[in-house]
Amino acid sequence: MDDAAACVRTVAIRAESQAKGYGRMLMAGLEKFASRQGVERLVVNAARDAVGFYGALGWTVVEAGGENPVLTKELRTGP
Ligand SMILES: CC(C)(COP(=O)(O)OP(=O)(O)OC[C@H]1O[C@@H](n2cnc3c(N)ncnc32)[C@H](O)[C@@H]1OP(=O)(O)O)[C@@H](O)C(=O)NCCC(=O)NCCS
Repeated sequence: MDDAAACVRTVAIRAESQAKGYGRMLMAGLEKFASRQGVERLVVNAARDAVGFYGALGWTVVEAGGENPVLTKELRTGP
């Protein structure tokens, strides 16, 4: 989105593999990759049903209204 922020899109785990920790693993890898690229803040326009998932991973709701709530997560940058 700019030098410090990146947008997360199209996060999905196959239906038969959900609720087994793969989503958490995927996002941990994504956060590590992004922070190595110098990204300081991630933003997502979430599906309503996925807000609890992001909440469990430490994301914060910044816009609750609308079809796709906006959440953000600050990353620790560095090597
Ligand atoms: C949302 C999605 C990516 C989560 O992946 P997952 O592999 O099922 O999630 P995990 O098993 O890694 O769960 C991680 C944590 O989030 C929680 N969680 C997962 N989905 C949740 C939900 N819909 N509501 C509330 N909490 C949820 C789990 O309880 C778990 O918490 P814990 O580790 O503290 O017990 C997956 O369900 C999915 O693909 N959904 C359909 C597509 C979608 O909505 N994508 C998001 C678009 S923004």
